[in-house]
Amino acid sequence: MKIDLSGVLYGQLKESEKKYDAARLKNDIEGAKKYAQVCANFEKQLAEKMPDQARAHLEKAKKWEEIFRTAGTAPRKTIVDRVGNGAEPEDDFSGFGDTLIETSTVTWKDIGGLAETKSLIMETVVIAGLSKPESFKPDKGILLFGPPGTGKTLLAAAAAGSLKATFYNVKIGSIISKYVGESSKLITSLYESARRHAPSIVFIDELDSITLSRDDDQSEASRKVLASILTELDGFQDKKSDKLILTLSATNTPWKLDDAVLSRFPKRIYIPLPDRKSCQEIIKIQTKELDRSKVDLEKIGEECVKGNYSGRDIQNVCRNAIKNMTRRINKNIFDDIEKMAEKPFEELQKTTLKTGPLIMEDFAYAIARVKSPLSPSDIQGQEDWNKKYGSS
Ligand SMILES: Nc1ncnc2c1ncn2[C@@H]1O[C@H](COP(=O)(O)OP(=O)(O)OP(=O)(O)O)[C@@H](O)[C@H]1O
Ligand SMILES: [Mg+2]
Repeated sequence: MKIDLSGVLYGQLKESEKKYDAARLKNDIEGAKKYAQVCANFEKQLAEKMPDQARAHLEKAKKWEEIFRTAGTAPRKTIVDRVGNGAEPEDDFSGFGDTLIETSTVTWKDIGGLAETKSLIMETVVIAGLSKPESFKPDKGILLFGPPGTGKTLLAAAAAGSLKATFYNVKIGSIISKYVGESSKLITSLYESARRHAPSIVFIDELDSITLSRDDDQSEASRKVLASILTELDGFQDKKSDKLILTLSATNTPWKLDDAVLSRFPKRIYIPLPDRKSCQEIIKIQTKELDRSKVDLEKIGEECVKGNYSGRDIQNVCRNAIKNMTRRINKNIFDDIEKMAEKPFEELQKTTLKTGPLIMEDFAYAIARVKSPLSPSDIQGQEDWNKKYGSS
């Protein structure tokens, strides 16, 4: 039987927090440091026991460690509030930004095609880091638009991963709908966190959820959210700072963007479906470490373009092809799947699946199973919008 220790740990954490508080009140710096360390350890253990809340607990652990290092330099109330324990005021969202931090290990090499877009984002990042003359106005934010699955999120993650920057992945739609009245405070908290953890890449996904034209609560929230985002973007430009906080945003439906939103993102980059060469690059990335010597990449690339495949579709093609190859190579296992299914899990773990060369039949099998959700008019719509409003 599995015993859930999280409740016990939680109780011990609360005890240690009280002891920390008591030590701080007595001005007992050494005691406070000791209990800050203990609290950090409990938070780390809680992160391990509760994977779905791991990030929040690790963030708190980090803050307790910071308190441990800086003990005696901040007033008790501030410290406890900052960590987010104890009785927080209802409208205190100060810790919210930190909960949006994601770890990105993606690098530019993980992206096939999109060479121009990659270098444009690299250039923006480099410029942001350089000392600039007063008159030079770098881009405030970049809008990436295009069909689903073409690598918009991947680009933002690569910008963060390559720079080892803090990556904030923000689905703006869910913030607006979940925290209607409070959403602009959350944006403030997001950028506060981004400043604290700079260099930071703030990725605002689903930008089209900011709707100003309707006359309801969501529109009101949208207005405030947009105002907050703009304040933050403008603010960073005015302050002479060598900290990098770059805002990238994305949408699949740029024509739904309100003019007010659009006007604040003058740099709009179209992320199209991959061409033949890009398809081949993506296939190489998605099948790396496998033997491709028996496949005609040119031909598969052509099929992918014909099928209007996005990078995500190609990823699915490669997954299916690899699955087919695995079944082919490990015929003995798959032919007797019923017998295998009766074995206990520990027993199964002793058997390793072998890999072999990918062949054209694997890809034919895979391509037959992947259908692009896009119609020609969907693609035309994106291209028309790009011609009219995209940056060249
Ligand atoms: N250019 C690419 N190179 C390599 N892999 C890609 C590329 N484009 C897409 N992929 C694969 O497809 C997956 C989905 O891509 P991503 O999430 O970046 O698409 P997106 O444009 O953000 O889609 P959506 O608009 O639906 O959010 C990626 O995780 C990656 O595996
Ligand atoms: Mg995305």
